[in-house]
Amino acid sequence: MTPRQVLYGLFVGGLLQIFPTECKTHISVVLVGATGDLARKYLWRGLFQMYTEQLDIHSFSFYGGTRLHSTEGSPVMYEIIKGLTCLPNVPSVKCVMLKDQFIKLSQYHQLNTVEDYSDLDRKIDELLTQEGLKEEGRLFYLSVPAFAYVDIATKVNATCRPQKGPWLRVVLEKPFGHNLDSAQRLAEELQKFLREEEMYRIDHYLGKQAIAYILPFRHDNHQALEPIWNQHHIERVEIVMKETVDAKGRTSFYEQYGVVCDVIQNHLTEILTLVTMETPANISDSEEIHRNKMRVYGSLQKPSRRNAVIGQYQAYNAEVVQELQKLVNYRSNVPTFAGIGIFLDSPQWDGVPFILSAGKALDERVGYARILFKDKAFCLQSESTRKAEFSQCKPKQVIFYVGHGDLNFPAILVSRNLFKPVMNSANWKQVTEFPHLHLFGLPLSDYYVYTPVQQKDAYAVLIPQILQAKRDVFVNTKDLLASWKFWTPLLKDLSQESPRIYPGGLQNGNNLDFTVAGTVVSFSSPDPVVIVPSSLNHQTASDYKVLESSYRGNRLVSAGTEELVARLASDLHRVAEATVRRSGKFHLAVSGGLSPVALFQRLASHHYTFPWKQTHFWMVDERCVPLHDAKSNFRSLHDHLLAHFRIPYMNIHPMPVHMNRRLCVEEDHGADLYANEIMTLVNGSSFDFVVLGAGTDGHTASLFPNSQALAQKGKLVLLTESPVKPHQRMTLSLPVINQSKNVAVLITGKSKHLIVSKMNKAEENSEKWPITSVQLSDGELVWYIDSDALSG
Ligand SMILES: *[C@@H]1O[C@H](CO)[C@@H](O)[C@H](O)[C@H]1NC(C)=O
Ligand SMILES: *[C@@H]1O[C@H](CO)[C@@H](O)[C@H](O)[C@H]1NC(C)=O
Ligand SMILES: *[C@@H]1O[C@H](CO)[C@@H](O)[C@H](O)[C@H]1NC(C)=O
Ligand SMILES: *[C@@H]1O[C@H](CO)[C@@H](O)[C@H](O)[C@H]1NC(C)=O
Repeated sequence: MTPRQVLYGLFVGGLLQIFPTECKTHISVVLVGATGDLARKYLWRGLFQMYTEQLDIHSFSFYGGTRLHSTEGSPVMYEIIKGLTCLPNVPSVKCVMLKDQFIKLSQYHQLNTVEDYSDLDRKIDELLTQEGLKEEGRLFYLSVPAFAYVDIATKVNATCRPQKGPWLRVVLEKPFGHNLDSAQRLAEELQKFLREEEMYRIDHYLGKQAIAYILPFRHDNHQALEPIWNQHHIERVEIVMKETVDAKGRTSFYEQYGVVCDVIQNHLTEILTLVTMETPANISDSEEIHRNKMRVYGSLQKPSRRNAVIGQYQAYNAEVVQELQKLVNYRSNVPTFAGIGIFLDSPQWDGVPFILSAGKALDERVGYARILFKDKAFCLQSESTRKAEFSQCKPKQVIFYVGHGDLNFPAILVSRNLFKPVMNSANWKQVTEFPHLHLFGLPLSDYYVYTPVQQKDAYAVLIPQILQAKRDVFVNTKDLLASWKFWTPLLKDLSQESPRIYPGGLQNGNNLDFTVAGTVVSFSSPDPVVIVPSSLNHQTASDYKVLESSYRGNRLVSAGTEELVARLASDLHRVAEATVRRSGKFHLAVSGGLSPVALFQRLASHHYTFPWKQTHFWMVDERCVPLHDAKSNFRSLHDHLLAHFRIPYMNIHPMPVHMNRRLCVEEDHGADLYANEIMTLVNGSSFDFVVLGAGTDGHTASLFPNSQALAQKGKLVLLTESPVKPHQRMTLSLPVINQSKNVAVLITGKSKHLIVSKMNKAEENSEKWPITSVQLSDGELVWYIDSDALSG
């Protein structure tokens, strides 16, 4: 529409002039929740901007609705629309006209019952016929709590679908569930009423200008980035969203979600995919982008408890108690801060930590994705005599800066010693102000800095893309579920943990700094117990002294779990070195289950000087599943230990449970093969070190109480049955364990307390408690039992 037409519409007034007769297609926009907070702050503004940008292509009508009758809802809605402002580049006379026009095109419509929705449908149809408009589509924006989605989708599907041809698009706001199950249920419900291509789940962070430009930037700078966008050149990637606000007033939401569900599962994870995905050959192809994104999800390593640190600002618990009327001694474990290291299994990203961190009540509000490159250059000449800004010895980084913080505007920064980026000059302009401002260790003058020509808020960026069906800037169902699938197990683990309490704001000091060593993430400073003097939840492992005494006539080592595991790891290390010195090799057999995982991780993160090259790895027992199965003991050994060192392949001896494409079949003689391999390689079939566990039923290895296997004589390796799934197992026999040189029995956790006490003074009874029959003919057995298992 030309300004003249707008003027005409404005001054003549009637609808006929506003909808010109030339052939523009018509879009009806329905904002459900039209007077809510989000609508007030962003959505009406986004719709208005969409309108001003697209009125040459489409004609529009806007319907705002809430559950309230129009006498209550309508004045509130108009008050919001009247307060709208234009972008700074729109002259004020034009702005007044546009706004007036927009107000005329907007009307309130009560949206509560299904009849309300059919009335709305009738209203839309009437306008279309009356004005002879060609319908392009209908956009429903649901700015309502998630529990109302299905109900509204039902009504929209039942009454408001356009006649064949025009599209229906429904925009949804997070949260989309709080774990995999709930997200899946919501998705399944919605799919009954809306087709996948009709749903637009908004993640407003994807509309932040610096974030929205990550893929185009990577695409346009392909030549410079392609050789260096990989593990060989990138040191690490930080994806950070810090907030100064707290959760006060919103604790009923926050208690259910916490920082991971609130911003990490969605915003930060989406950014991770944008940084790591293969750049699409066709940047406008939403489907290709989606496929590449899904490939990233496929390569994410499952995060474990050891990849994360969590915190909670001090006042949070009291706010929960007050707002949710909990008992005074209620203790919330919900994290308001998290730092998580994520790793990808891909040749491109192997070993590069992606540090995702977010929190409330922090020192500043800022968001960014920072790609820090490795420092490879050695600069001989002194800084003072060279042109410093291009020095190869300064940090090299690319930063997508969302805004706030020190810069206070969205920006893309590239170290000058990397390359001069190609930027779309219609949308980005170079910034040369503030040369002395320091950002990430460098003055701004050391970067190429670009900022958007026109700053727009995220909704103003995203809403127009709905009309263009640019689906890759929205979250589709597969993408959403993949993200939840990734995060849910960690969320479950974290819910058992007490977060570190932090004071909030500037007082946080270095309390929340954390260190990423290998794949292990830990707070850099010891737990500041002093902040909450009354709390007993914050004892650390070192609060326990290592106790040594005896158990069942053998040496006993006991301590808090972490300390105990550390002790076992160093005992093992010592024996390994002595053995290698003596015989050149070290034969180690390890069992499966949870307790040894902590040991593997400890070894992987602390024992670089272990004689890994001389160590042979054997399995004490194995589950009859393929080796790559998550339940495989070998897989666990591999993931938590072997994968971290260069161990000669010949030294690794998984049990042959999978032969001739079947699992643990007697006729395949897997057990005999393994026995042969032991006899051939291990001198006297006597292992140097065996790590065993013990079950709550007294089993060890895969030797269960009353098992027939216990009676089999003369075999080194046996097939057995377990009472729990997977039932079939392969295991070393007691006789071969008995002739080992060292055996460590590692028992951890409260659940083991009962069996530990029962066995303490009891006689050996292999039928009842197989572990009691581990008695070495000529070696040392040591019990490593943690404080929980020992004293309950
Ligand atoms: C919408 O409603 C119709 C019935 O009016 C139903 O047949 C259809 O399956 C529903 N869902 C979708 C996605 O169209
Ligand atoms: C890129 O993708 C868009 C959207 O699917 C399509 O319209 C366009 O033709 C594609 N371009 C090329 C060169 O394939
Ligand atoms: C094998 O074990 C025997 C007895 O345990 C020992 O005498 C011999 O030296 C060992 N051989 C090697 C190669 O370590
Ligand atoms: C070794 O294992 C057997 C079970 O086969 C057990 O009965 C025996 O007591 C153990 N001890 C020794 C020293 O062999």
